[in-house]
Parts: sequence; C-alpha cells; structure tokens
Amino acid sequence: MTQPRKPPEFATRMQRVQSSAVRDLLKHSRTPGMISLAGGIPASDLFDLEGLGAIIAGLDARSDPGIFQYSETEGDRGLRAAIATLLATRGIAAKPDNILVTAGSQQGLDLAARILLSPGDRIILERPSYLAALQAFGLAEAQIVTAPSDADGMDVGWVEDRLARERVKAIYVVPDFGNPTGATMSLERRRRLVELAGRTGTVLLEDDPYGALRFAGAPLPSLQALATAAGVGEQVIYLSSFSKILAPGLRIGWMVMSDSAFRQAALAKQAIDLHSCSLSQHIVAAYLASGRLGPRLQVLREGYRQRRDALMGALRERLGDAIRFSEPAGGMFLWARFGEAVDAARVLAHGIEHGVVFVPGAAFYAEHPEHNTLRLSYSMITPAAAQEAAQRLARALAAAGE
Ligand SMILES: Cc1ncc(COP(=O)(O)O)c(C=O)c1O
Repeated sequence: MTQPRKPPEFATRMQRVQSSAVRDLLKHSRTPGMISLAGGIPASDLFDLEGLGAIIAGLDARSDPGIFQYSETEGDRGLRAAIATLLATRGIAAKPDNILVTAGSQQGLDLAARILLSPGDRIILERPSYLAALQAFGLAEAQIVTAPSDADGMDVGWVEDRLARERVKAIYVVPDFGNPTGATMSLERRRRLVELAGRTGTVLLEDDPYGALRFAGAPLPSLQALATAAGVGEQVIYLSSFSKILAPGLRIGWMVMSDSAFRQAALAKQAIDLHSCSLSQHIVAAYLASGRLGPRLQVLREGYRQRRDALMGALRERLGDAIRFSEPAGGMFLWARFGEAVDAARVLAHGIEHGVVFVPGAAFYAEHPEHNTLRLSYSMITPAAAQEAAQRLARALAAAGE
C-alpha cells in the first residue's frame, strides 16, 4: 500500500498573498455576449500594430543575433538612454545610469519591496489600493497600512499623523489616475508628501503607469521632479512602464532611483531573472527611435477620453442618481458608488445574469472595505457597448432589489 502523501509545506509568506479578485472575474468576462467593465487592461484596438509590426518584420536575426542573446541586467544601453529622453518630457531629469529596465512596472514593485522591506516593516498605501501592489508587499511580509484617500488622492494629513507616531519605511503612491480610483493627487498634497518624506527619511515609491494618458487638465509635476527640486530626489523610487502606452505583452517597464538603490535593485534582479527580455527591449528601443510614440500618445488619449465620456454619459442617462462616480482626467478607470445601503457584490451577481461584469470595490481594500463601491474600466468599451453596459447595470441593480 502506498502511504498517503503529505501535502507540500509552503513558505509562510504565501499565506499573506491572496488571488486577485480581478483575475477571478476574467472567466466571466470571456462568456460570449458578456460586456466586461472589469478588466484593467489597455485597449488592444488602440495598439500601434502597424508601427510594431513594421519593426518586427524588419528584424534581421541573422545580422544581429544579439537580440536572442543574454544581455545586461541593468537593461539595453540604448533603451535606457531613450527612456531618459522620454522622462525629460515628463519633467524628470534622470541619467541612463540610474534607470533600470524591468519586466513591467510590476517587477519594479517587487524589486522595490525586496530591497526596502524586511518582514514586519511598515508601508503605507492609499485605500482603496492597487491589488498587485498589495500582493507584492504581502509577499515581502511587510506590515501594510492603508491611508484614506479622496478625489485629491492620498490623505497626506493622515499620513503625517501616522509618521509622527511610528516608523514607516515607505509610502506607495500612484499620483496620476490610480488603479482603482482614477484620482489625481493634488499639487498641494504632492508638495506636502515630498516635504514629509524629506523630513522623516521615508521612501516614496511613485508608481506612474498612467500619467502619459492624461486627456483633461494640465499635467502636475511628479513626486520625483518635486523631490529633485527640493534636494531630496534620493528619497523617491519612480516606476513606469510601456504597458499602457505601447503594449503590455512586451513586459518592459523601468525604475529610476539613486545610485545606492540602483545597485541593490540590480543585484536583486540578477537573482530573479538575470535581465529583461532582450527581444522586447530591442523592439521598444526601435519603436522609440521611430518617433511614433508622440503621435500614438495623442491617439490613445483621444481614444480613452471618448470611451470615458461614453461610459459617463450612458451611466448618467440610465442610472441617474442611483450611481455617483469620479471624473478621471486620464487613465482607464471610473470609481463609482451606489447608494449607501447597496452591496456591489450582490449587484455583480445579478450583473453576471444580465450580461455585464465589473469589480466590486471591496476587492481593493486591505481593510475597512466600502461595500457600495465599484470599479468600472472603460478602456475596452465602444460608445455603443457603453449604452448597453449601463442598461444592463441598471437592470442588475433593480434585480438586486436595491
Ligand atoms: C497602478 C499599477 N501599477 C503597476 C501596474 C503593472 O503594470 P505593468 O507591470 O504591466 O507595467 C499596473 C497594471 O495594471 C497598475 O495598474
């Protein structure tokens, strides 16, 4: 008789990571006829397939086998220089030597967590939070503290009080059009946060995957730019990515950081994956050299603005006062609320029957969930689908008896 096998004993850190509710919803998104407002992915119909296709068609593997070879951990030299030029357009003065190419900004988050956080160290995030950031900091066994946030972003006054009482190692912020709220942190709060970080020695982890997708209002300076101007640039680790402005499947992002943080992150990256994909780096570098990114950004901004307007208009028309939502100035998300007593998870259960899915907002809270909230992504929604989605949502809300 064979002995019953003991299940493998996994590391304790795995107990701190939960599967993302968004991923779990994807199976419903694939049901034929379903309209999904759930996925937080960029619009594939807005990818520059012509530009990318031309680069791929022009690849000459025989004369340049290096594109299939191992490459430097820090990233391709030419790509890092091109990223420095791109950053200058965002008001960030970075030397290529301080730019680490990563496998998306998600790897930047993981690297930052690994080099900064020992088990039990505190990190503050805004509430509600980007789910995969919660996962990355959970895997690092950090103590996660969430700060309230509103339409102007993280409540910096709350953070200041907290920092006066206890040691906090880092603060994670998405200042522009964050996921899930779409909110923009006000200039006043940005300044105050940078001042606070400089005074207390807390690291600011600035995640900026969406900033280039601004379609309304004037751009605000990044925390990195403000910190550099205030002489405390070393306090900030800045993360960004080509996922939302070019194509996420390439898995190319980057980190900007001080010399000492750079050395640590490069060391950690050696252990994780040696380097980011050589071929993807080559494609991104060639794309930047082609000069097509600027015009493509205009296409993306206009596309997302139209989709946002279509969804906001349809929600107002079909749901009226039954729903309230933010008006994001960029990015891909509307953060919405039903009436106080409504449970968005119940509405979702009826939504699945009526052919529409979204993410109930409670999924984005590490603590103190607000059950009447929901995240609606407009990135994949055409104006006609927006009308239909809002109508189905209204039916689901009625069926939930709310
Ligand atoms: C706030 C935020 N940060 C980081 C990422 C990760 O993006 P990527 O790893 O594709 O660059 C995402 C993706 O949705 C995001 O919403």
